[in-house]
Amino acid sequence: MAVSAVLGAQWGDEGKGKIVDVLARDADIVARFSGGNNAGHTVITEKGEFKFHLLPSGVVWPHSLNVIGNGVVVDPDVLLTEIAGLKQRDIGIEKRLVVSERSHLVMPYHVVLDELSEKAKGREAIGTTGRGIGPAYADKASRIGIRATELLDIEALFPRLEVVVNHHNAIITKVYGGEALDLLEIFEKCKLWSDKLSEYIGPVEHIMFDSVNSGKKIIIEGAQGALLDLDHGTYPFVTSSHPTIGGAMTGLGLLPGQIDEVLGVFKAYSTRVGGGPFVTELHDNTGDEIRNRAQEFGTTTGRPRRVGWFDSVVGRYSARINGYTDMILTRLDVLDIFDSIKVCSSYELDDTVVWDFPGNASTLERCIPIYEELPGWDTPTAGVTKIDDLPKNARRYVDRISELVGAPVKIISTGPHRDETIHVS
Ligand code: GDP
Ligand code: IMO
Ligand code: MG
Repeated sequence: MAVSAVLGAQWGDEGKGKIVDVLARDADIVARFSGGNNAGHTVITEKGEFKFHLLPSGVVWPHSLNVIGNGVVVDPDVLLTEIAGLKQRDIGIEKRLVVSERSHLVMPYHVVLDELSEKAKGREAIGTTGRGIGPAYADKASRIGIRATELLDIEALFPRLEVVVNHHNAIITKVYGGEALDLLEIFEKCKLWSDKLSEYIGPVEHIMFDSVNSGKKIIIEGAQGALLDLDHGTYPFVTSSHPTIGGAMTGLGLLPGQIDEVLGVFKAYSTRVGGGPFVTELHDNTGDEIRNRAQEFGTTTGRPRRVGWFDSVVGRYSARINGYTDMILTRLDVLDIFDSIKVCSSYELDDTVVWDFPGNASTLERCIPIYEELPGWDTPTAGVTKIDDLPKNARRYVDRISELVGAPVKIISTGPHRDETIHVS
């Protein structure tokens, strides 16, 4: 397929990085469209493990062009650190990275505001990654954001920056009792970013338009997951952007009809980091077993991830919003140790059975999972590369999930490495 979108189908960390890397082997372009360095995407190559927060996961393939779309919020310091990290490992990025001139910058005051607003919320805190993502998108919507293109005309930036810094300093000091930031220090940073990043800033919409028209193979790399979407997720316990298919279009300047396949990446169970409803969450030994076996600790913040069984109410909703042409199931091998495995097919809410995902966080807190119990398998799936080599019960588990979600399974991942992958179709 020419243009494939790889989207997180649950609450993030589904293994998008690994899958994008596998699919990018013969891709011309890998493009991020949403989020910022709240994302953490793991890729393992012959050079070892990479954790990308901003750079698209295609950067490890020397032939690929990597694009950061207008829908992404870019922390320039993090981007520079990631570029330097690649250079240290002998991966050059010159002429292989384009950052949209329209992307917004995550500024130092955004990080401060993220932390202060989370602290002020107390028990109602969202549990953000603390990377300034929400405040950066809020500034974008309030039309006081600073865009990458402004680094190209640093003198014109100063008067705007002054207004914005004064505005945020008033909030930091008067609302939160925090310490004001120094305008000139921030401006010095902008000058440095201008020096180091100008060569990468470009017109992403035009590049994407021309590339699609000339039949280039493009992988669109989602960040976060459908249930963290600002509109469709478990609001207010969401991120501040649109990790769903609509976001892929607005975040890169693509048109309806230009995306040939929409691939929903699902973990074979569920995880979530931070606060918010999680109907199938496990608070018992089984949850701890999965967390420890799968090393479910955040790629960005190191926080322990909350763990639960696969939730097909979430899966069906996510498929409805994104229109998956196919599912990709990762981390099947993590379930190798269990005698039986539960799958949530529906919820019980006030004595009724609910099939469709409720839109209200407090309603979700009252939902009780209704489980089907499927038998585990006696030979491991870890490292299996052919569908015919999967144990019968593992195949049965995959098929049942596919049936409940309502999308065919195209790829099954049986380990973190590239070759631990089954291409089903
Ligand atoms: P992303 O944010 O969706 O890219 O996912 P993360 O990189 O944050 O987390 C996924 C974790 O699972 C990483 O440590 C991957 O190396 C690992 N991983 C990906 N696929 C598999 C798999 O099929 N099996 C196992 N055991 N680990 C996997
Ligand atoms: P990847 O791309 C998992 C979660 C945070 C928090 C909420 C809001 O690696 O799948 P934010 O910092 O975005 O304002 O936090 O969203 N979150 C993620 N959880 N994976 C991610 O990205 C996430 N990005 C944000 O934990 O609950
Ligand atoms: Mg992640």
